[in-house]
Amino acid sequence: MKLEGRRAIVTGGGRGIGRAYVERLLAEGASVAILDLDIDNAEKTATELSDRGTVIAIKTDVADEDSVGAAVEEVAERLGGIDIVVNNAALFGDWKPEDDTFPYLKRMMDVNLLSVWLVTRAAAPHLVKSPYGRVINQSSGTAYNYTYNGPTDEFTGLRSFSYSWTKWGVNGLTKYSAAQLGNWGVTVNAIAPGPTHTEAFSKSVDPAHAQRLVEAQPIKGAIQPEDLAGAVVFFASDDARFITGQILVISGGRHMPA
Ligand SMILES: NC(=O)c1ccc[n+]([C@@H]2O[C@H](COP(=O)([O-])OP(=O)(O)OC[C@H]3O[C@@H](n4cnc5c(N)ncnc54)[C@H](O)[C@@H]3O)[C@@H](O)[C@H]2O)c1
Repeated sequence: MKLEGRRAIVTGGGRGIGRAYVERLLAEGASVAILDLDIDNAEKTATELSDRGTVIAIKTDVADEDSVGAAVEEVAERLGGIDIVVNNAALFGDWKPEDDTFPYLKRMMDVNLLSVWLVTRAAAPHLVKSPYGRVINQSSGTAYNYTYNGPTDEFTGLRSFSYSWTKWGVNGLTKYSAAQLGNWGVTVNAIAPGPTHTEAFSKSVDPAHAQRLVEAQPIKGAIQPEDLAGAVVFFASDDARFITGQILVISGGRHMPA
């Protein structure tokens, strides 16, 4: 076991990729707190995994400063400290790509980007006390897509692609946080997955398009949440103690940013 005794937060750990991270962290000996807005699901997950180690669920809106502050302090108290933060929660399953209204864009910014900073800031005083402080942010291969599939004959208004640029923002935030927290031995890295076959993905992408996405990967095959979890363990482990400010793309070769 690589993470025996470490104490981890996984935001959005109630389902999908976050749940796979929780399962893998438990398997490596960490105790885990799931911070999720969908508390019913988070509690269900915590109960289902309770025979694998210490796992707790706390209702949190990662976009709300007070909610984040209270949840992080509760984790520190109940688990006895914080060594690892996985900022995974985002508006993904419920994302409305066509909604470019200002309130929706602000919510997207809050949940997908500002939340990463809020959770990291709240956890930082605990992370700097740990000899194994680690932050792992969830970006997306979508940040590198830059595709526009709309009309090009008549200009119908500027599209936001808000999900994509919030994830680009996560990459930038990863580097700025890494530069600061590195002074206290805390590493900050990000994982940028390609299309990953979660329930949320299947709900928002039709099967024919999902198949086209798989075919666009040099390494064919549907990426599963479990295919990403090893990267979290690696970034959290002692093997990665000098690796910081890096974005690891896991998309079967579909995205190869410089
Ligand atoms: N599935 C993919 O294809 C894919 C690809 C690249 C990146 N990602 C990213 O991976 C992460 C997880 O994706 P997923 O497919 O498991 O999505 P998902 O929608 O199934 O999971 C998101 C989780 O975050 C929680 N959440 C949402 N808003 C929240 C809030 N305000 N506060 C607290 N919790 C909140 C949800 O309840 C849920 O448990 C997201 O950051 C997503 O952007 C997903």
